[in-house]
Amino acid sequence: MKSDSLWHYDEFKPVGRDYGSQSEVDVYDASHADFRDIKAESNKVLDTLGIKGGETVIDFGSGTGSFALEAAKRGARVHAVDVSLAMLDQAKAKADQEGVSGIEFHHAGFLTYQHPDGFADAIVTTFAFHHLPDFWKGIALGRICRMLKHGGQFYMHDVVIEESNALENIALFIEKQGKAGGDFLREDAEGHFRDEFSTYDWVIDEMLARAGFHIAHKNSEGGVLGTYLCRKEGESHNADSVKP
Ligand SMILES: C[S@@+](CC[C@H](N)C(=O)[O-])C[C@H]1O[C@@H](n2cnc3c(N)ncnc32)[C@H](O)[C@@H]1O
Repeated sequence: MKSDSLWHYDEFKPVGRDYGSQSEVDVYDASHADFRDIKAESNKVLDTLGIKGGETVIDFGSGTGSFALEAAKRGARVHAVDVSLAMLDQAKAKADQEGVSGIEFHHAGFLTYQHPDGFADAIVTTFAFHHLPDFWKGIALGRICRMLKHGGQFYMHDVVIEESNALENIALFIEKQGKAGGDFLREDAEGHFRDEFSTYDWVIDEMLARAGFHIAHKNSEGGVLGTYLCRKEGESHNADSVKP
């Protein structure tokens, strides 16, 4: 649901790649398979989080649903949240095809999702957080922290940039993507840095801490891809959630 405050960021408006378009959704899984094994990745994340049957997991920016499906197969109660109806439809179709139940799909985003269901045990987001500009990332992290139970875990994987050698590392990453997936992935990576909102790791570190998270583990691949495993410890310093 969109916010009714005119100054709130409109997270339903595409930034960079338009994941609301059917043609993007149709090629998504095949193009990402050129540089990642999403199913294996999802299971590694679930192992890391130690997700058990009956636990509640929210996936923000769930895309074609790969993580949500793997989580639901383990018996988790999954909330798949995405601003793109086309992505949600694709994820639902995949769940139906594989006979997977236990996923609730929500047409909403980091700033607008209202969790219906008590506190979550874990929240995951992969390759989606960079769609928000930095101020709104801070607001989103505050909301995420408040949706989690005390001690709950937050896992984030995305383009997050280390400051030293940033431009060289970005150029190397674009070259690597081009080698893995030709023009499509090279242009995808170029557009990412040009048009979307990835930020420095030290900005994300501080935002996480101020939102009430302890960073239990942090990793960077090539100074460009960041992975964070966090635990909710305190209360968010961002007192306001974005309504509704
Ligand atoms: C690059 S895809 C990542 C999909 C999946 N998580 C993965 O790892 O493959 C980014 C997804 O985030 C969604 N998205 C963009 N802005 C969002 C927002 N503010 N809140 C939630 N999802 C958002 C897009 O619609 C898209 O499905």
